[in-house]
Amino acid sequence: MKYVLNCENLLTLETDCLIVPILAKNTLGKAVKLVDQASGKLISHAIKQEDVTGKLGSSLLVTKVPGIRAKRVLLMGVEVQTDFNLNHAQQFADRVTALLGKQCKNAVIAFDDILNKTLTKEKLLEQFMQAFNQANYQFNDYKSAEKAKKLLGTISFHAQKTEEKKLNTVMKKTGSLLGGINFTKDLCNTPGNICTPHYLAEQAVKLGKSLKSIKVKIHDVKAIKRLKMGALYGVAKGSAEAPYFIEMHYNGSNKKDKPVVLIGKGVTFDSGGISLKPGAGMEEMKYDMGGAASVLGALHAIAEMRLPVNVIGLIPTVENMPNGHAYKPGDVLTSMSGKTIEIVNTDAEGRLILCDALTYAKKFKPDLIVDIATLTGAMVVSLGHVRTGIFSRDMKLSDQFYNAGQAIGDKAWPMPLDDEYQKEMNSHIADMRNAGTTRYAGAITAACFLSRFVDKDQPWVHLDIAGSAWHGGHSVGATGRPVPLLVQYLETCC
Ligand code: BES
Ligand code: MN
Ligand code: ZN
Repeated sequence: MKYVLNCENLLTLETDCLIVPILAKNTLGKAVKLVDQASGKLISHAIKQEDVTGKLGSSLLVTKVPGIRAKRVLLMGVEVQTDFNLNHAQQFADRVTALLGKQCKNAVIAFDDILNKTLTKEKLLEQFMQAFNQANYQFNDYKSAEKAKKLLGTISFHAQKTEEKKLNTVMKKTGSLLGGINFTKDLCNTPGNICTPHYLAEQAVKLGKSLKSIKVKIHDVKAIKRLKMGALYGVAKGSAEAPYFIEMHYNGSNKKDKPVVLIGKGVTFDSGGISLKPGAGMEEMKYDMGGAASVLGALHAIAEMRLPVNVIGLIPTVENMPNGHAYKPGDVLTSMSGKTIEIVNTDAEGRLILCDALTYAKKFKPDLIVDIATLTGAMVVSLGHVRTGIFSRDMKLSDQFYNAGQAIGDKAWPMPLDDEYQKEMNSHIADMRNAGTTRYAGAITAACFLSRFVDKDQPWVHLDIAGSAWHGGHSVGATGRPVPLLVQYLETCC
């Protein structure tokens, strides 16, 4: 999908379809009035006959409109009085895509008129780009060519010449964000027999080659053993796929500035291991590398945007399988930190690979550590597929992530991390156990486990994306989240 600005005259510009908004109380904006007049009041008549209204979701496609050069005009209700948010934009984009995708290669949105006091044109452009990107995303790598749906190729946004410069800046920046989102989606949607730990390592290397500001180092299984990452290695043992520990450095600011470390869970398939998962829905566990994919996607975006921050991405990546070498319930693993872990459930593997990454991160003396993981089913029970769970000991930090999510439409919600939950993770035989004694508060006890590997004074945020990384309900597949949240945070808070 291509996005461009169009500063031409609405009446004479050439396009497969001109999309014009009908506003609250069935009114027309200034620019649209011109189209109405040129067409002999076609729009006013359509409204009068109630063929279209200002209600969001109402639409009317008209061909051969007199007085203008566009091949078609699509009237779209966008009644928005106070706020126009990403959900509205999504509804709009889904409808436009469904109505025009088959027969139009391009369209121009005359969106000048739906602005109000709380909505800037920059924000609207950003929201429309996000929404059209989502509406037009397809993952066709494993389909025959004829199965691919026809979609719009180019969306143009109508603008005044005087706004061109500032809107182009937004367009470029948002384009980088969308590139990162789509990269993350593709990785999550790629089947587990292709997207293995080795494949993720290759993707990181490729990223380093295409963006010069990113340096990549891949630690193989030998290095993992040398580093004494016993928890990571324990999980990896049951699979024929070799594990990797991926390290990426993006230097956007002064070398001396302390980095933000992003850690992403990279389980390329989670069968549960010896504590095997039930069969139903197991195929979705290919997206258990969603955290890893979001780290790759965020780095892709921020490097392209040249954000002035230093960011290190760490990805422990394994496949969780139950072969004859697999780790078992009752085993005790020694993590890189020296702390020992009693395994009570081999399906609680994410925290094991993350704890060694958290220990490794210490050597960078980070300003902030953010880990991102499809960590628990309990998170999906708590917040569904709508919001990411934010866990932090520092409420200010937690608030910053909450606000960043609100600002970009990638919503998150603070979760508790009280000490009282910690005792669930105590073991009789080792320093801790890898799963609680009950299923209650499972997302919180998982966060408690991770917290044991982070110094008390180290700023740290854990994002549980088990629900938000994957579409629920009618849509299927990856969401590309929380790439927008991460990029927004790095852009505005660092
Ligand atoms: N990858 C899963 C969590 C998950 C569940 C992600 C559903 C996305 C959708 C994780 O490794 C896991 O299996 N967690 C267990 C932990 C339990 C054994 C303590 C869970 O949530 O059931
Ligand atoms: Mn698991
Ligand atoms: Zn998992």
